[in-house]
Amino acid sequence: QGGPVIAVDGPAAAGKGTLARKLAEALDLPYLDTGLLYRAVARLVLDAGANPTDPAESFAHALVAEDTRRPDLRSPEVTQAASQVAAQPAVRAALVETQRRFAAARGGVLDGRDIGTAIFPNADVKLFITASPATRALRRFLQTGGDSTAPDAQEKLRVMEEALVARDAADAGRDTAPLCIAADAHVIETDTSDAQTVLAEALRITRERL
Ligand code: C5P
Repeated sequence: QGGPVIAVDGPAAAGKGTLARKLAEALDLPYLDTGLLYRAVARLVLDAGANPTDPAESFAHALVAEDTRRPDLRSPEVTQAASQVAAQPAVRAALVETQRRFAAARGGVLDGRDIGTAIFPNADVKLFITASPATRALRRFLQTGGDSTAPDAQEKLRVMEEALVARDAADAGRDTAPLCIAADAHVIETDTSDAQTVLAEALRITRERL
């Protein structure tokens, strides 16, 4: 192993990406958003007119053979399909080596659902970032340009929260590498702290362990 591996796991829209990117910057480590791999497989599946619940292993192999840059990986349709292809053991297996290789040269910060449990069970530092569904829905709403004073804001928030909770339930309920807290992970609750406070806490934990 060429450098430290830091696993950042947690439910949808908990702020993992924001934290992991800043952590990588502060520690001068490569950063990988592993959700993009599943989103890119989902994009390939949808573009091929296939069903995300049908076997998608060949799409995962195709992705690994090419590259992960694809347009429109954040739409609700791709998000839902990503969670569906991610439930397939063969899809996950096809993406394991890519994730491990990413950190082989210099280590890295990887965010996802199973980094500390399945991809790097011996990660140097494991962080589990979480917040209540209401907090996460509000953050995602504002992040995507939502106006909290609009008359339909409450309804939109409710729909977003429902979608987040449903996706977390699917990710936590699957048989292979489900979303769960590694026994040796540090849990950071972000309901009452801003991104800067979360980063400071993560850096403190990380520096203690490296
Ligand atoms: O993190 P993001 O929301 O982009 O992930 C999209 C979906 O990809 C998740 O809902 C989950 O099903 C899947 N995923 C996963 N394992 C990871 C990262 C993402 O199963 N390490």
